[in-house]
Amino acid sequence: MNIKRIGILTSGGDAPGMNAVIYSVVKNAFEHNLEVLGVYRGYNGLINGNLKPLNLDDVKDIIKRGGTILYSARCKEFQTGEGLQRAVKTCKDNKIDGLIVVGGDGSFKGANNLSKEGIPCIGIPGTIDNDIACTEYTLGFGTAVNTAIEMVDKLSDTMMSHDRCSVVEVMGRRSGYIALEVGVSVAASYIVLPEVEFDKKDLFLKMEKAMKNGKKHFIVVVAEGLMDVFELAKEIEKTTGVESRATVLGHVQRGGSPIAKDRIAGVQFGQRAVELLLAGKVKRVVGLKSEKIVDYDILEGLALDSKFPKDLYDVAKKMF
Ligand code: F6P
Repeated sequence: MNIKRIGILTSGGDAPGMNAVIYSVVKNAFEHNLEVLGVYRGYNGLINGNLKPLNLDDVKDIIKRGGTILYSARCKEFQTGEGLQRAVKTCKDNKIDGLIVVGGDGSFKGANNLSKEGIPCIGIPGTIDNDIACTEYTLGFGTAVNTAIEMVDKLSDTMMSHDRCSVVEVMGRRSGYIALEVGVSVAASYIVLPEVEFDKKDLFLKMEKAMKNGKKHFIVVVAEGLMDVFELAKEIEKTTGVESRATVLGHVQRGGSPIAKDRIAGVQFGQRAVELLLAGKVKRVVGLKSEKIVDYDILEGLALDSKFPKDLYDVAKKMF
């Protein structure tokens, strides 16, 4: 099929680096004389026909910006048969020959459904959680980790001044990648992750042992969704006698100007996605493997085993 016009949308939680993809897609599409339609607010934009042509002026300078100029949403309606059909109609009415979807695994399931309805889709992994098995890296992860490190470093300053323990909750949805990299980078006294069973007694023992060896302030990093960090802080204080405070970092981790890795991966992913559509490929997801850009069938990619870095966790554990 001769492709003339493609669409691009960003879906799910936004991630630094999404704008780099949008820039890359527009630039690479124009090199091949393709038109680009920006779809606004994720799949909602497809359902409601909220699309606008993008040109080079629209994407100038966006590579350095956090968030996504196309806005994002989690769209429940798209998961219904009727929502899907309305999205298909919008694609057909607007003569979209291929669609690039930047988001997480939920967004890729949507892309798979659209592809089955005859709309060729390419998925690009964009989520701070780094929880997509078919890629070693998802856009936004590095920026989110760096932001969290900066915040925890500040917490650590005040904890040190008061001989306190800081229990910090970081994002990650159901995965511990952010917690692990942040924990190692801030020299955490303990890291609590969904991938490893939490042994509270072990945490207390490690803290008591460290206190005997002169340690007075502590950082405990906890991946979200596992426990009430305010309760854990109280328990730590009661058991070890170390005054404790809890902090939930929250959405600050999703914002900010993307680091180099997120800009570069965004450019690479965007380029490969355009090339795949030009080559007539459908239902593919791109990813990074050993620093090379790869692509998989969406369903095969989603079915791959989790890539949790056990080696790094083992290193981290020896530092507790
Ligand atoms: O998937 C990205 C993420 O930031 C997760 O880490 C977090 O669990 C979730 O999104 C928060 O979603 P929302 O922005 O809808 O509250």
